[in-house]
Amino acid sequence: MGSRRYFATTSKGLEDVLAGEIRALGGKTVGTSTGGVPFSGDAALGYRANLWLRTANRVLLHLSDFPAPTPATLYEGAKAIPWPDFFPVRKTIAVDATVRDSGITHSHFAAQKAKDAVVDRFREGSGSRPNVDPLSPEIRINVRIVGDACTVSLDLSGESLNRRGYRGDPGEASLRETLAAGMVLLTGWDGGTPLLDPTCGAGTIPIEAALVATNTAPGLRRETFAFQHLSDYDPPLWESLVAEAKETALPSAPARIEGSDLSPGAIRNARRNAGRAGVSKVVAFADRDIRELSPSGPPGIILCNPPYGVRIRSGPEAESFYRAMGEAFKKRCAGWTAYVLSGNPDASRHIGLKASRKIPLMNGPIDCRLLRYELY
Ligand SMILES: C[S@@+](CC[C@H](N)C(=O)[O-])C[C@H]1O[C@@H](n2cnc3c(N)ncnc32)[C@H](O)[C@@H]1O
Repeated sequence: MGSRRYFATTSKGLEDVLAGEIRALGGKTVGTSTGGVPFSGDAALGYRANLWLRTANRVLLHLSDFPAPTPATLYEGAKAIPWPDFFPVRKTIAVDATVRDSGITHSHFAAQKAKDAVVDRFREGSGSRPNVDPLSPEIRINVRIVGDACTVSLDLSGESLNRRGYRGDPGEASLRETLAAGMVLLTGWDGGTPLLDPTCGAGTIPIEAALVATNTAPGLRRETFAFQHLSDYDPPLWESLVAEAKETALPSAPARIEGSDLSPGAIRNARRNAGRAGVSKVVAFADRDIRELSPSGPPGIILCNPPYGVRIRSGPEAESFYRAMGEAFKKRCAGWTAYVLSGNPDASRHIGLKASRKIPLMNGPIDCRLLRYELY
């Protein structure tokens, strides 16, 4: 199989973690770029990337680069791609476009031009054309224009990869699964020591930690990926990768993984999510106020995304919460290392401990820091 060029997208701050994941999967020429990672490899790597990458939102297959300073050059460049070789005309399509510092100033217009080129290429060849489905297309085409340079790719994932298929009701302020997995990997935790999330909400962090600790591929429970609609889709290859992933998943984790939350409703939801993710036996959940946090046994890491994570939610309640969390850490968690995701520097000051590291991360639009505290 020939080498293909791929680009995996992620949230800002997770590029290095994602690059590490891609190298571990056998990706070649792994680079970095803001919001994503370019790499290369064979067709199987594209499937593996969708199945195994914990921090990627999408995996794109590179098709063409060309200069597109004007709408006409964008149309010609997109029409030069042999689209009918990639997917059958009966598939529904949509084009996503982004433009930056370009003569073509509207992304919607760029998407429209590229869509016209795809449709015309089909129509001129066979007389028929694919239909557009903006909401749930089978084939997603990605157009990125920076200055005069245009890159056209096929989205191999379809629905964003953070949709693992285990989370029913996401709960208020739930983390994206890819960000939760990225936080776990950023700590360097390998499953060999305990991991606690004392404000676990829908359970995203402990569930992602359980998937890491049991070597479970995050894409195993997804029903479809966009690459399954392409003409060169190789079902036996995909099925062999899925079978291999099922075989290498471990039934249990070496150390304790626990989630707790003040809200009994959140804990019920977290338990249901863990059930759907297949990790009920690996994660323990409890309803508990963080003020009662008092872990026993060998130390490990505390990893959480507490409430009042945005600056506008600051106030006496936020201060009292962060002060109580700091007290619990200092008085009852000696020997542990705590990581707290915060987008609210005013509130996190009240933890009353000095962070030994501050890792910049984006939680959706919120500029955050993953703060590390060594608890002596
Ligand atoms: C930002 S959410 C966490 C979201 C979670 N990471 C997820 O992905 O669903 C914060 C959580 O802290 C919980 N919480 C608020 N006060 C608490 C307290 N005193 N002790 C424990 N949990 C608390 C809330 O119930 C909420 O579920």
